[in-house]
Amino acid sequence: MLLEIADITRTFGGVRALDGVSFSVGSGEVHGLIGPNGAGKTTLINILSGITPPTSGAVLFLGNPIHALPAHRVAGLGIARTFQNIRLFPGMTCLENVIAGQHLVSKRALLPRLLCLPSAMREEREYRAKAMATLARVRLDHRADFLAKNLSYGERRRLEIARALAANPRLLLLDEPVAGMRKRGLTQVAELVRLLAQEGMTVLLIEHNMAFVMELCSKITVLNFGRTITTGTGAEISRHQEVIEAYLGVKDAPHA
Ligand SMILES: Nc1ncnc2c1ncn2[C@@H]1O[C@H](COP(=O)(O)OP(=O)(O)OP(=O)(O)O)[C@@H](O)[C@H]1O
Ligand SMILES: [Mg+2]
Repeated sequence: MLLEIADITRTFGGVRALDGVSFSVGSGEVHGLIGPNGAGKTTLINILSGITPPTSGAVLFLGNPIHALPAHRVAGLGIARTFQNIRLFPGMTCLENVIAGQHLVSKRALLPRLLCLPSAMREEREYRAKAMATLARVRLDHRADFLAKNLSYGERRRLEIARALAANPRLLLLDEPVAGMRKRGLTQVAELVRLLAQEGMTVLLIEHNMAFVMELCSKITVLNFGRTITTGTGAEISRHQEVIEAYLGVKDAPHA
């Protein structure tokens, strides 16, 4: 397993945001994480990316515990994320935002760059070329020199994904990548996730849009009030009584 989440609990004062959550994500899987508002989905992504430590439990990445590591170490190991509330550098261009994502995990020394040494200049050109290629993957290469703040909402969401991809992750955590999007933007992100999956990327995808999740995810974990209700295929979770109750009362299943 690429990622193992073992009995994770996280409390905030009296609130048990996560309460003994366990599931695993296999390499190359697009794994959905769903649940009603406040179920604990973002809290779990914060734990996986080293932003929030768990109160108890363990997270293993490639068999190694990562739950006590700070965010930059987790990023260095190959876990990248996007944020539910988009976090970009609004006054920087698209290209610069993606380059910032590369530098997050770059181990190169800063001094040669500051001194404008030829080796550093060459490296800078490589960074730019790589960032352009990443922008092309999310179909934003034509916006390379646009300021992030001047992009449309859907474009900003895709730029966030590009920034995360720039770090060359093995595991990509997406927190509601199509929230508030119309059909066209939604289709573009779906195509991108499918492409990444074909290339072997492992994705943990939080999303409220059930059709989107059902279409893309081979496995889905359902959280409710901080607890894992079940993990299964789309068909399996749609039949699961507790999932049906958590979403829609007792009558209906989540719609594919
Ligand atoms: N930093 C924090 N301090 C206090 N309570 C928090 C904090 N972060 C999250 N919580 C609480 O933990 C619970 C889970 O929140 P979380 O944001 O993880 O839910 P979510 O599943 O991502 O919800 P949504 O679908 O609305 O994004 C909520 O009750 C929330 O208020
Ligand atoms: Mg959330």
